[in-house]
Amino acid sequence: MDFDAIILGAGGAGLLAAATAGQAGARVLMIDHADRPGKKILISGGGRCNFTNTGTVPERFLSENPHFAKSALSRYTQWDFLSLVESHGIAWHEKTLGQLFCDGSARQIVAMLLDECRKGEVEVRLSTPIGEIGHSDGRFQLAGARAPALVIATGGPSIPKMGATGVAYDLARRFGLKVVPPRPALVPLTLGQDEVMFRELSGVACPVRARVRDVSFEEAALFTHRGLSGPAILQVSSYWRPGDEVSLRLLPDAAGRLKAARRDMPRAHLKAALAQHLPARLAEAMAGRIGLAKELGNLADTEIDAAASTLEALTFRPTGTEGYAKAEVTAGGIDTDDLSSKTMEARRVPGLYAIGEAVDVTGWLGGYNFQWAWSSGVAAGRAIAERLAQGG
Ligand code: FDA
Repeated sequence: MDFDAIILGAGGAGLLAAATAGQAGARVLMIDHADRPGKKILISGGGRCNFTNTGTVPERFLSENPHFAKSALSRYTQWDFLSLVESHGIAWHEKTLGQLFCDGSARQIVAMLLDECRKGEVEVRLSTPIGEIGHSDGRFQLAGARAPALVIATGGPSIPKMGATGVAYDLARRFGLKVVPPRPALVPLTLGQDEVMFRELSGVACPVRARVRDVSFEEAALFTHRGLSGPAILQVSSYWRPGDEVSLRLLPDAAGRLKAARRDMPRAHLKAALAQHLPARLAEAMAGRIGLAKELGNLADTEIDAAASTLEALTFRPTGTEGYAKAEVTAGGIDTDDLSSKTMEARRVPGLYAIGEAVDVTGWLGGYNFQWAWSSGVAAGRAIAERLAQGG
C-alpha cells in the first residue's frame, strides 16, 4: 500500500501532524501499538487537558539547543491551537499562570484531533506494532505499507504502564541520528533516609520558591513520604542533575516577619510566629530544626537573621527522582542538531521527521509540552505537504 507519509504514534504530535498533512492532500497512514489514540491526552490535566499556555515562549523549554523550538513555536502558536479548539466549540478556561483547560473533558481534544484526521482522510491503524522498517529508493517500508516520508511521533518513555516506550531513540539511532541521553522530567524528587524531618511532613503542602542552580519557580511544594513533589518541585526537577542541591524559600522576608512577631508577641515562641505564615506541622518542624528555645522577645537580631536564612533557603540534596513511572515527560531525546528546526526533518535522512516529546525539547509544567507537540506536529505536517506539492 503506497502512502505519502507514515506517522508512528497517535499521540498529540502525531495526530496533528497527520491531520495537517492529510488536509493538504497527502495520503497519510498513522500507526500506534495502543488500542486507542491520544491516551496521554485523556489522562492529562486531571482529565481536563491543560492543552496550551498563553505564556508560551521559547525560553520556557529545555533543550541542548535553546533556539531550536523558536521556529515551530512561532509558526503554529498557542493562539492557533486555541482557534482550533474554539472552532470545534470546545469550552475552555484559564486556570492559573496562563494554563488553558477544557471546561468539559480531555476527550473533547482527542475527538477534535480525530475529526481533523478524518477531514484529512488519514488512515489510523491501532493495536499495530511498528515491526521492521525498511528504507530503500527513498522510501520507508513497514507494516505492509510504503511512503517517502516517515514521522517518528512515539513520544518518550515516561509512564511505561500506559504503553510509553523509548522506541523513538532506537529508530533515531537506526537512521544515524544522535540522541541526547533521556531523563525523567517534571517528576517528584526523592530524599535519603537521613532527611527525617521531610518524611514526617508527608502530606503538607505550602507555597515556596524552589531553586536549583540559577533557576527558580514560585508555586506550591508538597512533602511526600519519599521526598518532595508539587508544581514547584516538578518544575525544578527538569533542571536538576544528580548531585545538585535544591533550596526552598518557605517564608519570604522571614527576618522582617520574625522581627515584627518579636515586637507584637514577645512572650510567644518561634513555632507560634511561624504558624502565622506556614502550615502548623511545617511551622513546628522548622521551629524544631532552627532550635531556638527562648521567647521571641529574648531573641537577638543575629539569632533572628540566622533563623531567617534557614527559612529563606532550606537546602537539601535529593538522592534522585521517582523515575519514568512518575515523570510527566522525558527530557533529552532525539538531538536537535540532526533536525531542521523549520520542518523537523532529519538533515541527513530526507523524508525522516521527528516531532513531539521524542525530540530533545521539553516544556515547563502547564500546557507547554502539548504546545510543543502541536507546533512540531504542524511543522512536519506542513513540510510533508510542501514536499508533495513539489512532487518530492
Ligand atoms: P505521546 O506519548 O502522547 O504519544 C506517543 C504515541 O506513540 C502513543 O500513542 C504511544 O502509544 C505510541 N507509541 C509509543 N511507543 C510505541 C511503539 N513502540 N510502537 C507503536 N506506537 C508506540 N502536557 C501538557 O502540556 N499539559 C498537561 O496537562 C499534561 N498532563 C500530563 C499528565 C500526565 C499524567 C502525563 C504522563 C503527561 C502529561 N503531559 C501534559 C505531557 C504530555 O502528555 C506529553 O508531552 C505529550 O503527550 C507528548 O505528545 P507526543 O505525541 O509527543 O507523545
